[in-house]
Amino acid sequence: METLEKDSIETTLAELYNDAKFDYIKMMKGAAKSLLRPIEPSDFKDAYLSISKEQGEDLKRLIKKSNIRNIIEFGTSFGISTLFLAQGVMETGGRIITTELIESKAKKAIENFKKAGVNDLIEVRVGDALETLKNHNDPIDLLLLDGWKDLYLPLFQMLEPSFHGNTVIYVDNADMAASQAFLSAVAQKSRYELRPKYEGRVVIITVKKQ
Ligand SMILES: C[S@@+](CC[C@H](N)C(=O)[O-])C[C@H]1O[C@@H](n2cnc3c(N)ncnc32)[C@H](O)[C@@H]1O
Repeated sequence: METLEKDSIETTLAELYNDAKFDYIKMMKGAAKSLLRPIEPSDFKDAYLSISKEQGEDLKRLIKKSNIRNIIEFGTSFGISTLFLAQGVMETGGRIITTELIESKAKKAIENFKKAGVNDLIEVRVGDALETLKNHNDPIDLLLLDGWKDLYLPLFQMLEPSFHGNTVIYVDNADMAASQAFLSAVAQKSRYELRPKYEGRVVIITVKKQ
């Protein structure tokens, strides 16, 4: 049974990455729409904007190595990153809450999770992460920040009471201007340690050991 599930995750991921090959065109179309106004998430409603396979494998390793069980993901898109997270929590007995603003993307992600046989490990919350995660009080072992970069700081601050000594915060697109502002704010807090990866495109935040 387990082998079947794993196979179908791999197959689903391969199909999704194949489709994501056309992201560049979709992103260009999205960017063109926002020439006369600020860019909006809906401009990229058809684009995956996903993490790389290498990042996905890294996340899987991290989850297994650190026995991570409680995961929150900001920015589901079509579910590529979530499928890697699911592969990790299949080994640790964990669960994932992921949240996506665009309803059509969230619906497609849920279809992908069902197809991959991991739907029961994933709760998808549709809407603005600041609302969908507002009442989250349970401990967070891993927070994956991969949504709108301006929200990294308010979301981090909102979820901070759920962090513990071993919480890991994985910041994607850390080299973008809005992410840099977020990281500077976090770096000022003595509680956290920041470690860049992939030439600064990712930053891993951990809680300093006392
Ligand atoms: C970079 S993509 C996520 C890619 C995904 N993590 C992956 O690797 O497959 C960012 C996603 O965040 C979503 N998003 C933007 N603002 C959001 C918000 N306020 N709340 C929830 N999701 C949001 C966007 O619609 C977009 O699908």
